Amino acid sequence: MYRNTPRSYGAVARAFHWATALVVLGNIGLGLVAHRLPMDQLALKFALFSLHKTLGVAAFALGAARILWALSQPRPVPLHPERRVETAMAETVHWVLYASLMLVPLTGWIEHAATEGYAPILWPFGQGLPMVPKSPELALTMAALHKMLAWVLMAAVALHVAGALKHAIIDRDQVLARMLTGRAAGGTTSGGRHATPALVALALLGAAAGWALNAPQPQAPVASLAAQVSEWQVLDGELAFSVRQMGAPVRGEFGDWTASISFDPDSGTGAVSVSINLQSATLGTVTDQLRGPDFLDAETAPLALFQAEIRPEDEGYLAEGHLNLRGETLPVTLPFDLDIADGIARMQGATALDRRDWGIGAAYPDDATLGFEVVIQVSLTASRDPGAVVR
Ligand code: HEM
Ligand code: HEM
Repeated sequence: MYRNTPRSYGAVARAFHWATALVVLGNIGLGLVAHRLPMDQLALKFALFSLHKTLGVAAFALGAARILWALSQPRPVPLHPERRVETAMAETVHWVLYASLMLVPLTGWIEHAATEGYAPILWPFGQGLPMVPKSPELALTMAALHKMLAWVLMAAVALHVAGALKHAIIDRDQVLARMLTGRAAGGTTSGGRHATPALVALALLGAAAGWALNAPQPQAPVASLAAQVSEWQVLDGELAFSVRQMGAPVRGEFGDWTASISFDPDSGTGAVSVSINLQSATLGTVTDQLRGPDFLDAETAPLALFQAEIRPEDEGYLAEGHLNLRGETLPVTLPFDLDIADGIARMQGATALDRRDWGIGAAYPDDATLGFEVVIQVSLTASRDPGAVVR
């Protein structure tokens, strides 16, 4: 009843199977959604990641218990041992499922333990792991492995479920019933058990892990300019501008910039230094012209630099300083709003510049063709925790 027989899954094996299926499928959903939520929904993103990690640790414990139980039990024979390729494929998928049941949560857990993550595991243990140092490199490696192995697991689950449905709907045999109800089915022969499926599964997982480790690391969300040393670490942000072209507003942005920010929330004062890679400027179909000599002249001087002091003013703050662009350094003041909660600062500000001051678009001396005024918009999220990575 509780134990397996050579022709049936016992109640314990079935309970383990469906419990892990539920937890794993649920956690795949949580991981996919949490990973894709934009940064402006930070609170929800963190909450879903906390849930994902908490459930993931439970999946690990459940998976380990399941595997230990399975080791103590006979494995029911395949129902169609004569279909050798099909049986071998099903077994290969089972091995991949068993292995990833351990490897997926483990890599996620090590990644979490290696960072100063924000989204905590909600169990009263497991924030750190023995022998796992706090290391951004280790965390990135484990993140790459975790994501790749999660995709392998998803592919295996898809094949596995497709197989189960094929047996139930097309073959109309007892494969699904055996796992659902514990009914005994199958002959007395296993058709001989081979090591091949396990070896193929191992090779597949090894190839996936190798691929993940050799793939170029994803770029940091904001910077590919070398990140600056900063008291406040920019987690996410946008640096955009808009200008009127033939009277209609067009909007462009800089994809690559870094900021070094010091700020004391008590006095409301600080300093900021922003480096902007002009080669990363985009403006619809005229990106090439924008980067070209008439406008930003990114070939000659690829960096713009804004350095400013921060002070409170009325309801918000001012960053008062200078913008160096195209070899011209001129005063710029950026008013901005700031909201700090739980060590996370969200700022947003805008200022208007006159492009002619920096000699931009001199060939277009007409405000109606290309507006003189360029509105710069900045929004960013920063955390006080140096070296912290949101995950
Ligand atoms: C809702 C989706 C699922 C269905 C319909 C399903 C169905 C089945 C069925 C019918 C079997 C028995 C196969 C046989 O007797 O040869 C089985 C076995 C198995 N399932 Fe699932 N499964 C599902 C989800 C999962 C998930 C998410 C995992 C793991 C992450 C999983 C892991 C396994 C493993 C490892 C076995 C082999 C058990 C053994 O013989 O040692 N299954 N599943
Ligand atoms: C069975 C357990 C688990 C499954 C099925 C799973 C699955 C996933 C999936 C599908 C993703 C999204 C991947 C993508 O969109 O490319 C993800 C991301 C992530 N998971 Fe898990 N996970 C599990 C356990 C864990 C655990 C235990 C932790 C940590 C304690 C964890 C931490 C993370 C983190 C931090 C990310 C984001 C990775 C990044 O963007 O760097 N996961 N997971």
